[in-house]
Amino acid sequence: MKLVVISNRVAPFDPNKPQTGGLAAGLEPVVERFGALWMGSSDTRGDGTDQPLPLVKTGAGDVARLDLPEADYPGYYRGFSNSTLWPAMHSLHQRMSGAEGDYDSYRNVNAFIARAAFDVRDRDVFWVHDYHLLPLAAELHRLGVDRPTGFFLHTPWPAPDMIEHVPRHRELMKSMLEYDLLGFQTNRDLNNFLACLRVYFGLKSKDGIVTTGRGQTRLQKFPIGIDPRQFAEHLAAELSPAEEEKLSSLLEKFEGSKFAIGVDRLDYTKGIDKRVEAFNHVLAANPGSISLLQIAPSSRADVGEYQKYKEGVENAISQVNAEHGTDERSAILYSNDSFSQAALARLYRAANVGVVTPLRDGMNLVAKEYVAAQDPNDPGVLVLSKFAGAAEDFSEDEALLVDPNHPEEIAEAISRATNMPLEERVRRWRSMIDKIESYTIPDWSADYLRELHKSRITVPADQFH
Ligand code: F6P
Repeated sequence: MKLVVISNRVAPFDPNKPQTGGLAAGLEPVVERFGALWMGSSDTRGDGTDQPLPLVKTGAGDVARLDLPEADYPGYYRGFSNSTLWPAMHSLHQRMSGAEGDYDSYRNVNAFIARAAFDVRDRDVFWVHDYHLLPLAAELHRLGVDRPTGFFLHTPWPAPDMIEHVPRHRELMKSMLEYDLLGFQTNRDLNNFLACLRVYFGLKSKDGIVTTGRGQTRLQKFPIGIDPRQFAEHLAAELSPAEEEKLSSLLEKFEGSKFAIGVDRLDYTKGIDKRVEAFNHVLAANPGSISLLQIAPSSRADVGEYQKYKEGVENAISQVNAEHGTDERSAILYSNDSFSQAALARLYRAANVGVVTPLRDGMNLVAKEYVAAQDPNDPGVLVLSKFAGAAEDFSEDEALLVDPNHPEEIAEAISRATNMPLEERVRRWRSMIDKIESYTIPDWSADYLRELHKSRITVPADQFH
């Protein structure tokens, strides 16, 4: 089986460089495992004319980073993808903005990527990822490419009323039905999409399949996981001397006290502001009981909403520190630095509580990584948003589930986690790690590709294992 993976962002393929977001972390092992070709955006722009594929070997696979067209890139990435679709997918329509022409740029870039993919003649299967590329199958079909083509959405899919806010939503959803398989993270996302098909097109699925004039589209949930074995390797890996020093000096600051950890791209969907408010409540009630290490690498900094959010978060942290910090210790230690997976694994293990409280999230792999990094004999506690996809995997008997919009509720969970007896921590952790180990990222990709195979019979099924 020859697989082409297509997404906007491509992993750095360098263990010392940090991954940006769950998609890159999730797909790197898939590309290596299947010896796939991964196509996506480079860091530079082109003039929009078609180029020969810039293929680079990554190990078992290949990567082709495309110079997306300069003229359309802002409308495609900053505009339609991240100022329109991203907030809509997370049900935050108040954050939406958009400019005339964004949608055209979005379509133009999708058409450009489809032309590049058209050149990959010796590949059997296309697997497309995330909201940047909703119409890619339609563009491939327009070029006459007719091979099994699947799509996986890493973000949530919202309810019909929310999608109404997105310009050209009907056209977009119609183009999504040109995929042979649509994969979602959770039942909630799958059901929302099915509700959209009913509301906007009067379409119903039968046995998970929707039939249109083009053909059939299968729809299914595939909750993405992590590779616990690879994560164990991260835990054991040596850090570069510079990162080792950075880590030691960070951990020194928490010596002799408890700390919680939050690791998120600096994004308004992640609920960092509410989390900071929650710490204010915790520390007002129990001064010095726990501190927070918040790692928040800057993200999409050229989008206005992200700049405003960053300012708000930083002001709130300064206030909490002014009120509850001491000369020796900050109440909240905040860093915009990115860390390697190996360094993060060590920080997760050292932290007594993992706080993962996005307002909404596709899955949130930090939740699973935090659990995977724990010491089985003395594990920490996961405080998890009810609206993260991971909350469909973990029950109330495992994580402490909270409404991320209510700082008081998060505060209560943090205090409970801080004081949780060892026996209860072990019981909750054991149950979560069993789940993580029973459905790993290799299972996820194999399951997805097996289903994609079912939608067409051109590729032997035994190749997906
Ligand atoms: O996981 C969602 C996602 O939007 C990915 O598609 C993306 O690669 C990641 O977050 C990071 O965002 P960006 O690529 O815009 O930095």
